[in-house]
Amino acid sequence: MSQLIVSGMRPTGKLHLGHYLGVIQNWVELQHKYESYFFVADWHALTTKYDKTENLKDDVLNVVMDWLASGIDPEISTIYVQSHIPEIAELNVYLGMVTPQNWVERDPTLKDMAKILRTKEGQNSQISYGLMGYPVLMSADIMMMNADAVPVGIDQVAHIEITRDIARRFNNIYNTEFFKEPQPILNHCSLICGLDGNKMGKSFHNDIKISDTSEETAKKVMTAITDRSRMRKTDLGHPDECEVAFKYWQVFGTEEQIAQVRKECEKGERGCADCKRQLGAVMNEKLAQIRERRAYYESHIDEVKDILIEGDKKARKKAQEVITEVRTLIGMY
Ligand code: TRP
Ligand code: SF4
Repeated sequence: MSQLIVSGMRPTGKLHLGHYLGVIQNWVELQHKYESYFFVADWHALTTKYDKTENLKDDVLNVVMDWLASGIDPEISTIYVQSHIPEIAELNVYLGMVTPQNWVERDPTLKDMAKILRTKEGQNSQISYGLMGYPVLMSADIMMMNADAVPVGIDQVAHIEITRDIARRFNNIYNTEFFKEPQPILNHCSLICGLDGNKMGKSFHNDIKISDTSEETAKKVMTAITDRSRMRKTDLGHPDECEVAFKYWQVFGTEEQIAQVRKECEKGERGCADCKRQLGAVMNEKLAQIRERRAYYESHIDEVKDILIEGDKKARKKAQEVITEVRTLIGMY
């Protein structure tokens, strides 16, 4: 039997190329090698946005549409919504009992989030009990499927370590080897920066969405930062100091295209506007198929919902097997 992976993403709405290149592309590859479970972490969204839920439903659907468009294949992968698997909440309770408080307190991602919240809200009290429980809930997501491995970005590795600790502790306490200690699979990411050279992010208004049209993409690419020392086309350029545009070339261009851009830029034979116009066209060509599929699902939203109903069912079947075993191991009535 092939090994099982599980991974989740918070429903942040329409995803951007950073998500696609950094995360989803990895999932698309992995799904052919592993029994794969991918879920929308809507409970995790509530840990910080419990009071901003008006777009939550749409955000969930948009994330799923972006996954499907990007090539997550519902025929071979199980796609589901975290909150549709109540067994995760139950497992979260059991894991919460065996997790020492200082394990969650030392979680570095949580510390960062707390810091951001503090600066945003100007007070400490905004860190809810639910947010404190984030690492336990994430462990419940992973252990619910008794996963062998979890594809994640480097920023999430600490969470997987806590999960391994919790799994080991559960096994020790209840004298079992039932839970696996899941391994992280690091996303090998072609990290892509935002149009302004900072990290790509929705809230920074520097992102290109998977769902943007080719016109929108072309227009946005024209705003990408280039070699700042360059004023005229005939100025000799420095592709390695071209902060954004050349980096995008390196992600989307062929070897030959990249070499040609470098040569012409260095010799002052290529203007930045022309360069970015061409870049936009190249990116749009690469993204055309994804966007076609995105448009298809947008106009067939019932199909998306059916895929989720199927996925929820499959994930729940697995979850029920696991929770039944857990109840027995703990000795619940
Ligand atoms: N914490 C992850 C993030 O913010 C999302 C997530 C929730 C997750 N549960 C998970 C990822 C379980 C992998 C496995 O990106
Ligand atoms: Fe960047 Fe292209 Fe301008 Fe060179 S010509 S600085 S690679 S945008």
